[in-house]
Amino acid sequence: MTDSILVTGGTGALGRALVDRLLAAGTDVRVLSRRPAPASGVPFGWCTGDLTRNAGVDAAVDGASVIVHCATTNGRADVPAAQHLFDAARRADTPHLLYISIVGADQVPLGYYRTKVEVEERLARSGLPYTLLRATQFHDLIVKLFTVQRRLPVLLAPRTMSVHPIDVRDVAEHLAALAAAPPAGRVPDIGGPQVRALTDLARAYLRIRGRKRRVLPVPIPGRVARAYRAGAHLTPDHAAGTITFEQFLGAAT
Ligand SMILES: NC(=O)c1ccc[n+]([C@@H]2O[C@H](COP(=O)([O-])OP(=O)(O)OC[C@H]3O[C@@H](n4cnc5c(N)ncnc54)[C@H](OP(=O)(O)O)[C@@H]3O)[C@@H](O)[C@H]2O)c1
Repeated sequence: MTDSILVTGGTGALGRALVDRLLAAGTDVRVLSRRPAPASGVPFGWCTGDLTRNAGVDAAVDGASVIVHCATTNGRADVPAAQHLFDAARRADTPHLLYISIVGADQVPLGYYRTKVEVEERLARSGLPYTLLRATQFHDLIVKLFTVQRRLPVLLAPRTMSVHPIDVRDVAEHLAALAAAPPAGRVPDIGGPQVRALTDLARAYLRIRGRKRRVLPVPIPGRVARAYRAGAHLTPDHAAGTITFEQFLGAAT
């Protein structure tokens, strides 16, 4: 039985979906955020703190039986941030710690992915009871790739490269189930319902958003692109997500 769940990054894309899901199930939830609690109030607990600066972390962790670590600084600071959280958890009641990482993190040579793997390894060595889930790219991230190009006359999309995007609500559903179960270590990866060419997603995006631009497939050189082309970030055998990219964008298709 879970008494209280702390969601770090509870204000982020995944964290918000997870908090909604946990609240719907009647779970006692609190979030850790660097921001002050909204003046309008929220239907869950709010802890203001900063994982990188190690401020307010002990208070946030205190009394939590499960922690879902969704916070990210999108860079190297993820390592000290996670270490501060793990140390606080060890000083407390050694709660079950769930960490969300990325499919192929150990195979795609990106700095951010190396950081994810280092956090995974530190968690495994921490002595805490833990569960580690790797997910594929979120639909939100794919849309960001396209929206940053809104001023270009064409929409550039890497040629011969596929992704396996998943909706944060599907990841949240899975995390909520893992949070209610005993610690399981590394669990099978999770991906969205479809592996799709990025050019195909770019066309779907333009169509659904009503934009009349052309998709321009571009070759991307380098080791990172090679790893992506080899499919290191896909997990077709674990296509457990249910919400397609089109459904995420709100299309009827
Ligand atoms: N995006 C993807 O495609 C993808 C795919 C697989 C796995 N993941 C993983 O899923 C997790 C969530 O990603 P996301 O895209 O939902 O993140 P996001 O939307 O960028 O949100 C980041 C969250 O981290 C919090 N945060 C940042 N710095 C912090 C600090 N120093 N102390 C405390 N909180 C801090 C932010 O909270 P405040 O601003 O309120 O402080 C925010 O809630 C990450 O671990 C990411 O690596 C992402």
